[in-house]
Amino acid sequence: MNIIRNFVVFEGGDGSGTTTQLELLRRRFDPPPGSPSLPGQKPLLYPTFEPTDGPVGRLIRSGLRGETKLRFDTLARLFAADRNEHLHAAGGVLERAGRGELVVSDRYVPSSLVYQGIECGDELPLLLNNAFPIPELILFFDLDPEIARQRIKNRPELEIYEYLDFQIKVRDRYRSLLPLFRSQGSRVETIDASKAPEEVAEEVWRAIQKMPIIHTNG
Ligand code: TMP
Repeated sequence: MNIIRNFVVFEGGDGSGTTTQLELLRRRFDPPPGSPSLPGQKPLLYPTFEPTDGPVGRLIRSGLRGETKLRFDTLARLFAADRNEHLHAAGGVLERAGRGELVVSDRYVPSSLVYQGIECGDELPLLLNNAFPIPELILFFDLDPEIARQRIKNRPELEIYEYLDFQIKVRDRYRSLLPLFRSQGSRVETIDASKAPEEVAEEVWRAIQKMPIIHTNG
């Protein structure tokens, strides 16, 4: 399987903290105020996410909020179309990772195999996603769905997948599916997402530091 070097993906159930962790990682890469940017110290970080904020991603978000009524198999196709843009468009994942930036995405192919797999069965998401190259590193933020539910229950609006029964299936499916990515050549690490955000951020950083891109730049 084709591996995208310098590409990291954060995965996990809703409320597992991937977005917070991407923000904490971004701060780690910010140069200290007033300091000149020092080439050769750390690679450039490109934090990104799916669904994207492009036209297809916006339609998906509207579907997730329940504002646009979409069939689950239509959503599966939209996620794949959004990913195609994310990956291949000018300034996208492939271009940036290829020129030596550290690209970290909040969600990618595993989310589709997990979430759309629950709704549509395995076949369609596999078919729609099997041509996408896989990341060098996948970090799975593992969290008891009940704790995750406590964390997200005060959000102003919940999305269509944010209910407990579904999230229990999400966790099970991640656990059974991630070995597939490992067998295809991605490094997969499980992060204990129940810890305090700063402790989780240290675990994330330890995993990322093992990447060759950090050493060649460090
Ligand atoms: P977020 O909560 O991380 O912003 O992601 C939005 C939701 O979209 C989340 O419930 C997971 C879901 N999702 C899929 O169902 N399939 C996908 O391929 C992706 C990228 C996200």
